[in-house]
Amino acid sequence: MKTMNVAMIGGGFMGKAHAMAYAAMPMFFWPAPAIPVRKVVVDIDQARADEAATRFGFEEGSADWRAVVARDDIDVVDICTPNDTHAEIAIAAAKAGKHIISEKPLARTAEEAKAMLDAVQAAGVIHMVAFNYRRTPAVALARKLIDEGRIGEIVNFRGTYLQDWSADPDSPLSWRFQKDVAGSGTIGDIGTHVVDFARYLVGEIAAVNSVNRTLIPTRPVQEGNVDKLGVGGGDANAKRGIVDVDDEMITQLRFSSGAYGSIEASRNAHGRNNYLTFEIHGTKGSILFDYEHRDALQVMFADDPADVRGFRTIYTGAAHPYGEGLWPIPALGIGYGETKIIECYDLFRAITSGEQPSPSFDDGFRICQIADAIIASGESQSWIEV
Ligand SMILES: NC(=O)c1ccc[n+]([C@@H]2O[C@H](COP(=O)([O-])OP(=O)(O)OC[C@H]3O[C@@H](n4cnc5c(N)ncnc54)[C@H](O)[C@@H]3O)[C@@H](O)[C@H]2O)c1
Repeated sequence: MKTMNVAMIGGGFMGKAHAMAYAAMPMFFWPAPAIPVRKVVVDIDQARADEAATRFGFEEGSADWRAVVARDDIDVVDICTPNDTHAEIAIAAAKAGKHIISEKPLARTAEEAKAMLDAVQAAGVIHMVAFNYRRTPAVALARKLIDEGRIGEIVNFRGTYLQDWSADPDSPLSWRFQKDVAGSGTIGDIGTHVVDFARYLVGEIAAVNSVNRTLIPTRPVQEGNVDKLGVGGGDANAKRGIVDVDDEMITQLRFSSGAYGSIEASRNAHGRNNYLTFEIHGTKGSILFDYEHRDALQVMFADDPADVRGFRTIYTGAAHPYGEGLWPIPALGIGYGETKIIECYDLFRAITSGEQPSPSFDDGFRICQIADAIIASGESQSWIEV
């Protein structure tokens, strides 16, 4: 069986998720399209890189991503670093002829994302952006039901991504709260996942009308490289720095199809941990998904007899998308890890077949354009065509 060498840049939260997926993908999806070899992991210094190599099962650690992406023995470059580094790494990797998966958002701005898209298209390599939540089997099932016309023509979409890990004003000022590193706050970090859902399930977004704000304007400056996502709390006595990105956004959407929609994203929503949801209404029924109960899809068909009409709960299993590789019994449990394993499977299927996967850098670029429009709309307090 074909093996392919992976260089993973960044050994933090996503480094952990992607490393686990490289190891587990062939265990779930067999025969695997190719066996990923965890060749080298890169971090900001040699000690951190070596520690990541030991922990995540890579053959080597390195502190020099430029040298690594140019190596002849690397087939795939996996970008798991903060957003300000995605463009430079991806463009260098494309020039070196490597297939690329980049974490989301693809870049800080649409302009950066366009340069990345141009580079991968010029190089003719496979490219993917890691909006893995759409690979939750229940979400893929929603797409299948919509494609089959089971809920008719879509009338509206309402999506949320609400979290509370930074609701504490003393939760640290990590890279996620700095515009020069992150590009934006909730818009790019979590809102883009819902934009990906909206485009995947309903279609292209034509215009947005948004309100965005920063509820907590300063936070204690964080020591260390990895964003701890509020774990352990902050030091109320530490020096505080300015938060120059949004921490709450609400946007209305107008789809090219004529459907309407809305997205809300917040990291200050006490009690909401990873409340990533959508509710879609069609002319023949409705679909509801809540990632906090991600094994299930709620579906309602309007032509059911009146005495049993209502939402039914479908637990995903072998009969549903990706069921051939996942656990054989519905409701046994789908986790974040499974979405990354499926993403890895689809990436290597794309590489071995030569067909671009979805979401690709084209989608990543388009989502950055929508994110830029959400920011501009919030500033101008008006509808913006995307
Ligand atoms: N798909 C998802 O669900 C999801 C979830 C979380 C984060 N992300 C995205 O993944 C990316 C990384 O986020 P994270 O949460 O893993 O961050 P993190 O802070 O946990 O880890 C980032 C790692 O990158 C390293 N790093 C920083 N600059 C580097 C450089 N120039 N060279 C090599 N290593 C470098 C850091 O030292 C750290 O180990 C971001 O783009 C983020 O938006 C996606």
